[in-house]
Amino acid sequence: MKKYVKDFKVSDNVHLNEQYSLLKLKPVDGEMPDMHPGQFVQVYIDNSKNTYLRRPISINFLDKINNELWLLIRKAGDGTRHLIQTPCGSMLNMIIPLGKGFSLKNGNILLIGGGVGVAPLLFLGKELKEKGCNVSFLLGARSKNDLLEIDEFKKYGQIYLSTEDGSVGEKGFVTQNSILQSSFDMIQCCGPLPMMKAVASIARKKNINCEVSLENSMACGVGACLCCVEDTVSSGNVCVCKDGPVFNINDLKWQI
Ligand SMILES: Cc1cc2nc3c(=O)[nH]c(=O)nc-3n(C[C@H](O)[C@H](O)[C@H](O)COP(=O)(O)OP(=O)(O)OC[C@H]3O[C@@H](n4cnc5c(N)ncnc54)[C@H](O)[C@@H]3O)c2cc1C
Ligand code: FES
Repeated sequence: MKKYVKDFKVSDNVHLNEQYSLLKLKPVDGEMPDMHPGQFVQVYIDNSKNTYLRRPISINFLDKINNELWLLIRKAGDGTRHLIQTPCGSMLNMIIPLGKGFSLKNGNILLIGGGVGVAPLLFLGKELKEKGCNVSFLLGARSKNDLLEIDEFKKYGQIYLSTEDGSVGEKGFVTQNSILQSSFDMIQCCGPLPMMKAVASIARKKNINCEVSLENSMACGVGACLCCVEDTVSSGNVCVCKDGPVFNINDLKWQI
């Protein structure tokens, strides 16, 4: 898929809570590149003295009707703090789209996300639903207020929730949710590494095809600096930015 370096204008910045913002962006030249769920962008962050490198951010949603790209941002450090404060009307320069995304299979698909890992699952859920799949989302967070975009997810599938404090949905981690006792044709997952490993272990025991989206630290985002390497069964060390970030669990050398 062709990559572009493009300017986008911030058309909306929705502050979801103290930690999270949803940025809605329109291409300045009006031409939205083709992209696939699970791919990401590298955003240049202006006015942040400590942020030299672009930051990788998942494509949260492609709103084809309004020609808008959505990015869900969690405040982690200086770069993302600047991003969540970006005022409407300002410009963001991005390399887009990067990496290889999720498979679009048929059948009964469970999408599992934790924290900001829910970000790529909205676009994925929409594309799977349009393909005719039966989509379920299992979304987890510490507490009710940390669950994000629930009304958007509801448009594309059945929702199951887990919170660590039990304030909504089932109490505990997503990996303890009772929906995992049902059977699925495929599980696709993004979130903290321990969560993805636990999901991968459940999927393997139940013999369910499973993909995970890795968030290894990245610098260049295009396979040049080798800082994001992951060891795989099929090809040895590969760059997560170029050959991922999505991998089938059978290709990862995880001890699960
Ligand atoms: C493929 C990919 C997709 C991503 N998608 C999103 C997204 O949709 N929304 C979003 O908010 N964030 C996403 N991230 C994480 C985001 O890129 C980092 O949080 C960001 O780079 C941190 O930059 P900073 O300048 O704010 O913080 P820094 O000052 O660089 O770091 C602050 C803290 O965040 C930690 N951190 C840095 N990079 C990562 C990382 N990759 N994963 C976990 N912790 C990290 C650092 O170790 C440090 O503790 C994604 C990362 C990858 C690799
Ligand atoms: S981030 Fe440079 S090779 Fe992946």
